[in-house]
Amino acid sequence: MIDKSLLKFPHIRQKMLLLAVLSFVQAVAIVGQAVGLSRALVAIWQLQKLSALWKPMLVFFSAFILRQLMDVAKNQVATHYADANVTRLRPVLQAHLFGLGPAYLHRHGTGSIVTVLIDGLDEVKTYIQTVLPKMTDMVFVPLLTLIYVTYENWLSGLVLFIMLPLIFFFMAILGLAARAKSNQQYADFTHLNNTFVDTILGLSTLKMLGVAKDYEKDIYSVSERFRKKTMSVIKVALTSTFALDFFTTLAIAIIAVFLGYRLIDGGIVLYPALVSLILAPEFFLPIRQFGDDYHATLNGKNALAQVNNVLAEPLPSSQPTISWAGWRPDSTLQLDHVNFRYADAAKGINALTDIQIHAQGMEKIAVVGRSGSGKSTLLNLLAGFNQPAAGSRIMLDDHSLNGFNTPAWQDQISYIPQAPYIFSATIADNIRFYVPQATPDAVQQAAAGAGLTDWLNELPEGLATMIGEGNRGISGGQAQRIALARVLVDRQRRILLFDEPTAHLDIETEYDLKQTLLPIMHDHLVIFATHRLHWLPDMDQIIVLEHGRISEQGTLSQLRGQGGALDHLIAEMGGKQHARFKA
Ligand SMILES: Nc1ncnc2c1ncn2[C@@H]1O[C@H](COP(=O)(O)OP(=O)(O)OP(=O)(O)O)[C@@H](O)[C@H]1O
Ligand SMILES: [Mg+2]
Repeated sequence: MIDKSLLKFPHIRQKMLLLAVLSFVQAVAIVGQAVGLSRALVAIWQLQKLSALWKPMLVFFSAFILRQLMDVAKNQVATHYADANVTRLRPVLQAHLFGLGPAYLHRHGTGSIVTVLIDGLDEVKTYIQTVLPKMTDMVFVPLLTLIYVTYENWLSGLVLFIMLPLIFFFMAILGLAARAKSNQQYADFTHLNNTFVDTILGLSTLKMLGVAKDYEKDIYSVSERFRKKTMSVIKVALTSTFALDFFTTLAIAIIAVFLGYRLIDGGIVLYPALVSLILAPEFFLPIRQFGDDYHATLNGKNALAQVNNVLAEPLPSSQPTISWAGWRPDSTLQLDHVNFRYADAAKGINALTDIQIHAQGMEKIAVVGRSGSGKSTLLNLLAGFNQPAAGSRIMLDDHSLNGFNTPAWQDQISYIPQAPYIFSATIADNIRFYVPQATPDAVQQAAAGAGLTDWLNELPEGLATMIGEGNRGISGGQAQRIALARVLVDRQRRILLFDEPTAHLDIETEYDLKQTLLPIMHDHLVIFATHRLHWLPDMDQIIVLEHGRISEQGTLSQLRGQGGALDHLIAEMGGKQHARFKA
């Protein structure tokens, strides 16, 4: 009924205590209301004077008002508490997701994470604000009404008492059935979201391949399945509501019939019979209300479980902050026996195995290899996204690290991934990314350096043009140039991690850019994954990756002509590239 993790929420005990007090006062008001009403009715029945009525009526009305006030108060407390907690959870969840990084998002699907963050938290809110007051109501209202009914008429009390476990029993059976169905429904909901987001993101590819219709059908069938699951959950929910209503009505009817007989044969006087009859529905009311909301609370419970799952996912062990002065001309980086495995890879299959790299000063290191050999994986590891396996040894100057997600290192790197992300902002803001305080002049220069001038001149708003999601679209090459401009605008970071930064550019444009890049690379440590062989003569060290292992390592002159991995790779690439490649 109540999720145990809810009990770990801050101040939950105080709030429950407060709600318990309010429920208790409300239960007293409910009894008072019944007492006032019964007394008034009995007075009318006995044809007493009108003046005898005002006292019981006063009790009735004040109890009635008190009861409604308690409802308002409980709602206020619960809603406020739910609001405060969801407001607290949202940034915590966000920060945790940021900490988990892109790998986690990739594994669980963007759609499902978006669902947790937006819908899920709202469901959690509904859950908290519904379940807390209902819980305390279910304790105090039946308890106090039962005590009073038993006190006035112990046999009616006994009937109520006997019916109670029976109702709980049915509630539990149907509740379990609903829960199983609701869990499936939630899983389907997540699947639907992932499929939908995936299709939207891949829409251009789908259109291009002419399979958009098939995907449309796919979404249709997934949503149909979700609809059916939802309907079956509702069916169970309705059945359980019906069963609860049926049994409570039956119990009340039994009490009514039985009290009627006793009244006829004179075994009971009017007041206790009337008050028992008025209180009998009140006795069951909180249970019935809980049954009505059970379905809604199940969704919230699932959402809360998912929120807890995300929060329980251990963050990649954060590195002890090191006091490192930054990369200097005499700095060294030594990687020994570095292994890495993707979380969802088959057992024993490493994406990187036994990586050994020595980098010194402002060296330029090329990482080459066939597609899928692990270049991006290695760069992601160096950028701090991929956490090396235990036992990997990394020495940065005289600091021993077990990964690269340490702020001191990350403050020093500029990273251009294979597909740089362009934020929904102006071109200037996108360029200013690493250095928000960069002057317009510096941005302009960087843009020019990255070869953006011609394109910017065509745009009426120039650098102030909004790009990214929801704005003007840009080409892959333009995105890469913006990413390059980001690097150019920054003068502090001494380490450049490039993952094929020029892959979307034609070879001629790349040649122009190379002239801008080379002087910058001069005073940086550069680790450069590339397919383009013309970069190799400008590199101090070449690392050839094959299936996640380093198969060859050395300077170009050491490796060229040895008939080794690099020669094979160059021969394979051949063609136009080879013609340009003058080693
Ligand atoms: N998120 C991931 N989860 C699981 N496996 C992955 C993931 N990303 C990459 N891989 C696998 O790791 C291996 C190395 O991939 P990686 O992207 O590093 O190759 P690459 O050398 O950069 O290739 P390319 O030249 O095509 O960019 C591949 O076998 C790939 O299937
Ligand atoms: Mg890659």
